[in-house]
Amino acid sequence: MANNNDVAILILAAGKGTRLKSSLAKVLHAAGGRPLVEHVVRHCQPLRAKRIIVVVGHQAEKVQAVVEPLDVETVLQQPQHGTGHALLVSRRAIGNAKYVVVLPGDAPLIRTETLKALIEKHKKGQAAATILTAVLADPSGYGRILRKGGDHVAAIIEESKLTPDQKELNEINSSMYCFTTAKLWPALAQVRPDNKHRELYLTDAIAVINAKSETVLAELAADPREMLGCNTRADLAGVDHTFRDWKREALMCDGVTIQLPETVLIDPDVTVGEDTIIEPCVQLLGKTKIGARCVVKTGSVIADSVLADEVTIEQHCVIVASRLDSDVIVGPFARIRMETHLKSGSRIGNFVELKKSVVGEGTKAMHLSYLGDAKLGSKTNIGAGTITCNYDGFHKHPTTIGNKVFIGSDSALVAPVKIGDGAYVAAGSTITDNVPADALGIARGRQANKPGWASKKRRELAAADQAGKKKKAKRR
Ligand code: UD1
Ligand code: MG
Repeated sequence: MANNNDVAILILAAGKGTRLKSSLAKVLHAAGGRPLVEHVVRHCQPLRAKRIIVVVGHQAEKVQAVVEPLDVETVLQQPQHGTGHALLVSRRAIGNAKYVVVLPGDAPLIRTETLKALIEKHKKGQAAATILTAVLADPSGYGRILRKGGDHVAAIIEESKLTPDQKELNEINSSMYCFTTAKLWPALAQVRPDNKHRELYLTDAIAVINAKSETVLAELAADPREMLGCNTRADLAGVDHTFRDWKREALMCDGVTIQLPETVLIDPDVTVGEDTIIEPCVQLLGKTKIGARCVVKTGSVIADSVLADEVTIEQHCVIVASRLDSDVIVGPFARIRMETHLKSGSRIGNFVELKKSVVGEGTKAMHLSYLGDAKLGSKTNIGAGTITCNYDGFHKHPTTIGNKVFIGSDSALVAPVKIGDGAYVAAGSTITDNVPADALGIARGRQANKPGWASKKRRELAAADQAGKKKKAKRR
């Protein structure tokens, strides 16, 4: 992409966003898995501009915390006297850049290519200002573009100032512009805050520039969705919808099968390998990475986890911050969390919870277990209902289980405890001491059988029943 060393980008993010009815500043609301303003910054970065400046004001520190890691400068606009005022406050930061691209922090769908076209049109047309516009079926709420022939713009008219005739205008101001700074500053100096909010509107600078017979151009964007600002919760939902659509489409282009795609939610940083199948109603969140030829079945939620190739996640699993090696099968209804590592070929079945545990190659825990702070070797079998008692009310303790161990069903392993390689634990045991390698650990009451006890009991009960009935009959 062309070097834009003569361009400064200014992102306006100081406003409160009254119409969202929120205690959180507008640009910090999330859509498509990221704060609005973060999307805008990321879409600007490939332009390789001289600098990117974010104007902050409302909840300035929180907005700074989001954008500063993205290598941008910030300017404080306090108080906020309108979009024109935001430009004046940023004049020193914009410095000697020949052009300034101005973007609202609340319109996150804008694509790099569209901004590139805006800058190119401005430079080629030697314009004083170029406005990115869109034609909307419902333009209400937006400032409208008043053209004066061809690509030339006479003015932007804010909704509140539209005459009845002008209400028909359906080309809107996206609030994204490219200005030649030498023409912008004198024009802004002439703008007056003659509106009911007593604000300086950047849009009024357009009419001033036009009155000086300078060139003002419109660049009509092909996809009007890119212009959508988030002024209301409904706008946020609409923008989120578009982001999710784009993400799924990109993955499908890369060879991922997504069934009923509109039901699947995928965050922007998620990657998925070829020939992986995602069933309906799945969520892939955060920094999740999924390999090739995996299957993620319906209702599963995977966050910040790494799955190698050929992993199967059965229905309705929750997997958070964990690593699953190749050929692992999990679920249905399993919960895997907090740095758990399932090694190749291991199997975790229904109603099994794992926390901070390592499961060795080919090891199985198929039914109804809790394994927390546990390290399991390879080819070990964990019986149904096995519980690691890892918490004593004060501290967490580790459980270590070796290779080729057999833990009988319904065993409680009271940590800290170690089970050696090849050992057996008898079903129903409460293990409080280490079990050496190849030993049997059995920790339960001995069974005693009493021959004939049950039939004798039945005879006694039957006799007592008969006697009771006879007594009742006599009384009548
Ligand atoms: C603005 C435009 C309107 C356009 C619409 C597109 C003006 C006067 N109007 O209206 O023509 O159709 O965007 O979405 O520009 N901001 C600051 N400092 C301020 C005021 C605002 O940084 O003092 C920021 C806001 O945080 C926001 C952006 O500027 O990110 C736009 O402000 P907003 O209040 O959303 O303007 P609109 O009424 O939507
Ligand atoms: Mg807005």
